[in-house]
This record gives sequence, C-alpha cells and structure tokens, in this order.
Amino acid sequence: MQIGFFDSGIGGLTVLAEAIRRMPDKDFIYMADTLHVPYGTKAQEDVRAYIFESVASMMDLGIDALVIACNTATSIAIADLRERYSLPIVGMEPAVKPAVEMNMATGKRVLVFATPLTLQLPKYYALVSRVDEKGIVDSLPLPELVHYCEALQFDQAVMADYFYGKLAGFDLEQYGIVVLGCTHYPFYKDILRSILPPHIEIVDGNVGTVKRLSALVSRYGLTGGNGRVRFMCTGNEPAYMDKMQTALAMLLNK
Ligand code: DGL
Repeated sequence: MQIGFFDSGIGGLTVLAEAIRRMPDKDFIYMADTLHVPYGTKAQEDVRAYIFESVASMMDLGIDALVIACNTATSIAIADLRERYSLPIVGMEPAVKPAVEMNMATGKRVLVFATPLTLQLPKYYALVSRVDEKGIVDSLPLPELVHYCEALQFDQAVMADYFYGKLAGFDLEQYGIVVLGCTHYPFYKDILRSILPPHIEIVDGNVGTVKRLSALVSRYGLTGGNGRVRFMCTGNEPAYMDKMQTALAMLLNK
C-alpha cells in the first residue's frame, strides 16, 4: 500500500511532512513535476496537460490513494482526475472558509496569498463568493515566491525584504488572518511570523488535508506500510532528489 503525493516542485513536501507526522507507518511516494515547475505563472491548459501526464506515471507505479498537494493543480484538474481514476483523491484549496469563520468575531479582514493562476481560476472565485458574505477577503498573488522556494532561498533578510515590498500597500492593522494558499508558502511561515504584526494569524490547509487523507485511508481499509518515503521527479535530476530529501528533513526537524 502506498500513498502518492503530487506537486509541481517541493511545495507538497509541507503537506507530506504533516502526513508523515500523523501516519508514520505508511509508505509514501512523492512526485515533483520538475520539468514544468512553476505552474502558477503558466497557462491553465498547459498546466492541465502536465498534471495528467505526471499523475498517469504515478498510476503506473501503483498507488492506492493520491494527494494533489498543490492548490493550483487542484483548482485546474481535481474534478477531471476524479472522473478518470477510481482511487481516493484528496485535493487542496486555500483555507478561506475557516479563515472567514475565525474572523467573524473580530471583524478583521482576511488576506489570501496564492499563485496568480489559483487566484484567476473560477474555482477560487466560486469559493470566495460562497463564503465571503461580508466582503472581507482580499487576495495577493506572489508570482516570485515559488522561484525563491525552489532555489531554497530562506535567507531572513532577503525574504523579509520581499514580503515587505509585497505588503507595502496594505494597512495590516485591518487584517486578522493571512491564508497561505499555495503549498510552497508554509516554508516561509517563520519568516512571515517575524514580519507580520503579532495579532495576525497565519493559516494553511495542510492539517485539514491530512485529516481528510487519514479518514479516507481508514474508510478504504488501506493498511500496511513500513514508513518508507520515495521521491520521483519528471526531469529525473539526481540533484533534485537530494533537494527533496533535504527540504523534507528540514520540515520534519521543525
Ligand atoms: N505548490 C503549488 C500550489 O500549491 C504551486 C506552485 C507553482 O508551481 O506555481 O499552488
């Protein structure tokens, strides 16, 4: 029994790390589409084709459940993937609903960080229209952040500068929550924590996603495993395999 995780790059490792914490005895196979990362600044139809190609090669390896550990890929392809494949598939969407609910009491605004593509797609628009009755949700695309992350750029000064630049136009006193709507972004949680005012909470969808996965694993009776984690990437670059190992170890040691 093995559980597949898919992302354009190393972002989905933030979700995998959570899954390993919760289900340490399961076997996981993690696939990054290194030939095409980043997705969030490309055309929707191209990205859809990349996703289907990668997922097909994961299916060839034999997986029993699949996590699309990428908000952008989920928005584009989750419905079609579920139609094509009969195994349980878990997707991700920016945690806008819980953020809006958490802010009801304070009346503060919600700021969603995500890729440009996620924020442009009808799925995001539908989500916000459904849950944001009071019009308190604002969105900020961060097109450069996945590049930084893929380059393992975690320098406090460089990244703080980047975030200060992006947030310059916002009055942060008005906001109560920042939602990390891309799985690469939780790599920057500590840096964001150090620059955002203390009253702003930072939320992501990782724990919720892993809870859903764990419920499906029980429901489908997916037992067995030795706590093994395997990595794959579409470009087959040995250096990238090392990078995934390093990044996962970094997340698990936190
Ligand atoms: N990690 C992905 C997400 O959650 C996408 C990053 C990208 O390739 O642009 O949206």
